[in-house]
Amino acid sequence: MSVARINGGGIGYGGDYNPEQWPRQVWDEDVDLMARAGVTFVTLGVFSWSWIETADGVYEFDWLDDAMDLLHEHGIAVDLATATATPPPWLSHAHPEVLPVDVEGRTRWPGSRQAWCPNSPVFAAKAVRLAGEMARRYADHPALAMWHISNEYACHNLPCYCDRCAAAFRRWLHERYGGLDALNDAWGTAFWSQRYTDLEQVLPPRLTTTIPNPTHVLDYRRFSSDSLLALYRAEAAAVREHSPDIPITTNFMTMRHFDHLDYHRWAQHVDVVSTDHYIVNTWPHPRAELAFSADLVRGIAGGAPWILMEHSTSAVNWQPTNPAKALGQTLRDSLAQVARGADTVGFFQWRQSRAGAEKYHSAMVPHAGPDSARFREVCELGDLLGRLKEIAGSRVAADVAILFDTQARWAAEGPAMPNSALAYLDTPEAVHRALRSRGVTADVVHPGSDLSGYRVLIVPTLYTVQPAHAEAVAAAAAAGAHVLVTFFSGIADPDDHVLLGGYPGAFRELLGVRVEEFFPLLPGETVAVTGPGDAAGTGRSWSEDVTVPRDSLDGPLAGVVATYTDGPLAGRPAITRRELPGGGVAWYLSTLPDDATLRDLLAEVLAGAGVPA
Ligand code: GLA
Ligand code: ZN
Repeated sequence: MSVARINGGGIGYGGDYNPEQWPRQVWDEDVDLMARAGVTFVTLGVFSWSWIETADGVYEFDWLDDAMDLLHEHGIAVDLATATATPPPWLSHAHPEVLPVDVEGRTRWPGSRQAWCPNSPVFAAKAVRLAGEMARRYADHPALAMWHISNEYACHNLPCYCDRCAAAFRRWLHERYGGLDALNDAWGTAFWSQRYTDLEQVLPPRLTTTIPNPTHVLDYRRFSSDSLLALYRAEAAAVREHSPDIPITTNFMTMRHFDHLDYHRWAQHVDVVSTDHYIVNTWPHPRAELAFSADLVRGIAGGAPWILMEHSTSAVNWQPTNPAKALGQTLRDSLAQVARGADTVGFFQWRQSRAGAEKYHSAMVPHAGPDSARFREVCELGDLLGRLKEIAGSRVAADVAILFDTQARWAAEGPAMPNSALAYLDTPEAVHRALRSRGVTADVVHPGSDLSGYRVLIVPTLYTVQPAHAEAVAAAAAAGAHVLVTFFSGIADPDDHVLLGGYPGAFRELLGVRVEEFFPLLPGETVAVTGPGDAAGTGRSWSEDVTVPRDSLDGPLAGVVATYTDGPLAGRPAITRRELPGGGVAWYLSTLPDDATLRDLLAEVLAGAGVPA
């Protein structure tokens, strides 16, 4: 399905447009300014439910008709929201059971946004009905270019722990496991007297006395993501019925701190992948984080061009202190996203609100109005993007892939792990940063994707792994790829049951190493290692007791490339390298090295694989 109408055959440019916040005469100025800024599209109606459906089943479309017509007259394409992101007060007043409930059993009340439970039948019915009504009304409108289902699923209302979610969870478990024996086995309920004898006994993982059952928690994360996906699909189906030819999307959030949804599963159900990304300059390595996010979303999109649905022209409003961006940063950040595969660049939002929760969030037209440095920058960006037409539809080529799996992330960040201070993303981001500093492009891809075209595969903290994915990595190495596996990969199966006989169970054979015990490091603690070359380096977060068994494994032995030089593991291997018969190489990295050491290591890996760096 083509998205040509959103990007106008070039690079699309625009943002969220909320005309209901403004008197009608402002709209005329808006479209004139949009023309000046080179805007090609807007996202309309995201939070408009209470203005469209003013009472149960009562619709007031006139203002939206007017906005659609006006935008069309000015040649601006519309990414039309189903308007279901936030139910109106009349709905939650009549049906308080739509409200979500937190881990402590507290209701999340209306008064902000997205106050709905992912498994509320009432909410689902009303949302799907509105989506259908929107599609019926606007399917043939000439401004319509794309459908935008809801908004940033799970941003505020996941997980919900209410009784409706509990019942839906039991249904999901029944489908997944069939019977209680399989569930008891998967959850390891022999531990701590947790054996279930009736599915009705199963609850969401609500606030417990101490450490909850990790597989219970993991399954709840899977279930929660699937619940929202089902809702998304129901709305999309209602839209599709009236509007079969218009592409459908929903905006993902590939920012570091957001981990509620398994977007690799979701991506199969959108016609075009779109994401929101807010760079936070006060975080460590902000530009590297942006680059990682863009390479990840490109992987989620299967390499196809994708849409940057939202970012900000300047400050956000959701940190304690919200610094403005230097002029020029937005240009650079936008172009970085385009260089990494975006073919459309959007902002939240077009005109900065004068009231409400986001009045101090920057926008394309700031409070100061169009006579402002910020709006001039917005115009400059529109002009630049307008001149980049010929790169629309192009694809990024990479020799290197970094594997990324949300399911492994959820499991690795589950309760009571060897080092809870180690975030799943720490290692893939460090690797990506090191590659980026050498000018090496990496795809960040799911382990289930086609790995055959890559000369180098990095497997960072793939804690749980499906057997087929471990086999695919081994097959790539056997076919000549150079593979670097890091610590805490291949440790457990998808139920989070440890693979026995020495870590890392799923990759032990491939790597030719065996680990008997983890030695995680305290926050701030480092351990000295010899570098891969001559320079000495350090490791942080993790270390472990690596041996290179001489008898139990088939084929060539792994060689020791670097060793620990202090601490309890002094003299033991820190990095190993095993040459495989087919020309492939299997590297193992047992700690998280400092940036310089990691750069040196990757330089060796890349050089060996013949990837220019
Ligand atoms: C999200 C939402 C927008 C807005 C921005 C603010 O991305 O989708 O509606 O709240 O955050 O940064
Ligand atoms: Zn719920």
